[in-house]
Amino acid sequence: MAKEKTTFTCTECGGTSPRWLGKCSSCGAWNTLIEQVAEAGPGKNRLSTPQGYAGLANAQPVLPLAAIEAQDVARTPSGIDELDRVLGGGIVEGGVVLIGGDPGIGKSTLLLQAMDALQRAGLPTLYVTGEESGAQVALRSRRLGIDGSQVQLLAEIQLEKILATVEATQPAVVVIDSIQTTYSDQLTSAPGSVAQVRECAAHLTRMAKGTGIAVILVGHVTKEGALAGPRVLEHMVDTVLYFEGDTHSQFRLVRAIKNRFGAVNEIGVFAMTEKGLKGVSNPSAIFLSQHSEPVPGSCVMVTLEGTRPLLVEIQALVDSGGPSPRRLSVGLDKDRLAMLLAVLHRHAGVACMDQDVFVNAVGGVRISEPAADLAVMLSITSSLRGKALPRGFLAFGEVGLAGEVRPAPRGQERLKEAAKLGFSVAVVPKANAPKKPIEGLTIHAVERVEEAMNVVRGL
Ligand code: TYD
Ligand code: MG
Repeated sequence: MAKEKTTFTCTECGGTSPRWLGKCSSCGAWNTLIEQVAEAGPGKNRLSTPQGYAGLANAQPVLPLAAIEAQDVARTPSGIDELDRVLGGGIVEGGVVLIGGDPGIGKSTLLLQAMDALQRAGLPTLYVTGEESGAQVALRSRRLGIDGSQVQLLAEIQLEKILATVEATQPAVVVIDSIQTTYSDQLTSAPGSVAQVRECAAHLTRMAKGTGIAVILVGHVTKEGALAGPRVLEHMVDTVLYFEGDTHSQFRLVRAIKNRFGAVNEIGVFAMTEKGLKGVSNPSAIFLSQHSEPVPGSCVMVTLEGTRPLLVEIQALVDSGGPSPRRLSVGLDKDRLAMLLAVLHRHAGVACMDQDVFVNAVGGVRISEPAADLAVMLSITSSLRGKALPRGFLAFGEVGLAGEVRPAPRGQERLKEAAKLGFSVAVVPKANAPKKPIEGLTIHAVERVEEAMNVVRGL
């Protein structure tokens, strides 16, 4: 009997196929089949169901939770404050970090800087480069002013060779740049395929857990904005960091979207300079564009993802569209935009049915919190009416389908930050209105969308 070596499993429905197919024959989803190495020998793929399990394995001891000592994880700060902030304090022993982002956004730059800092702090490091040659990395290090660095470099893409080198050199931290270029001979699928990426990441994760070596994986983002390898990597690792920001602007955000060792949504802010990435310790005002006069279609909001408030300008352009008008959003959720347009129509009588609507969060920042709703709506109406919001204006608050304006978490902090930066008028949800007035800031507390529109009209 011919031994079946590999099968293909659908990541959507779990259906299997002996061959790779573009479309899953069970659920009809496209590009979801991934290769898996089947265990050799008959019967290994299915669990038998005996009468009892005692013959198969011994029962394992169990302990009450209270009897287990909680151990603090050992962290080593990388010395790059903004990176340590998103990591939750530093590199964790045996921790696996995945760092994703568009090409050219600065992943390799940041990690080379971090490895150099760790090496200088006395931690042995290994930088595995599969994307660039050793000479190219050396060139970058010269640009970064760290060409005298003791960071160990390995230009290799084969997983087995990488693992053998790690075993032989015993570093404390390994960077794999990138996981997509890493491949294993044991799989027949091409380097960069989902199966390869997943298997390689699984091996590296196992190695990290077994040895206490921290592993940092660099991952590429697909055109759709997801890490290649349909999120499988995100489940496997301890920490997922994403680079955000516009490659054309100077600023970059690194956001923790998952962290087993720290807070999620924490943001680190960097500026790309001639000499690499520099942390921005006071970033609240960098996502505002500088208009000399207030312009229609612009509304500032305060976002608070992580621990620091950040002022971000939301821009909208409403323009007469064709028979099927377009709705486009950059940095904001597209479905949410459609919902807000419906709420605007139903509850505030503002119709954009025959208009193209574009919205954008300035500076390449991505806002996922619903507190942006009110600012999105106000910028849309401002553009539609061609009337600018007054200078020093800001708004935030979540908007519900019934037209109610719901509070945003930690409203006081947001307002204080805005006042500090010289903002003078705010429209906020009623529950976020401060008990004591904030100096220099006139606050209009609203409960409904209509109310917010009326306040703005009267300004
Ligand atoms: P890089 O770290 O190679 O991006 P990634 O690994 O995410 O693909 O970043 C490359 C970009 O950064 C490139 O366009 C040049 C720019 N850069 C600087 O502006 N200053 C620097 O000191 C360095 C090293 C790169
Ligand atoms: Mg790179």
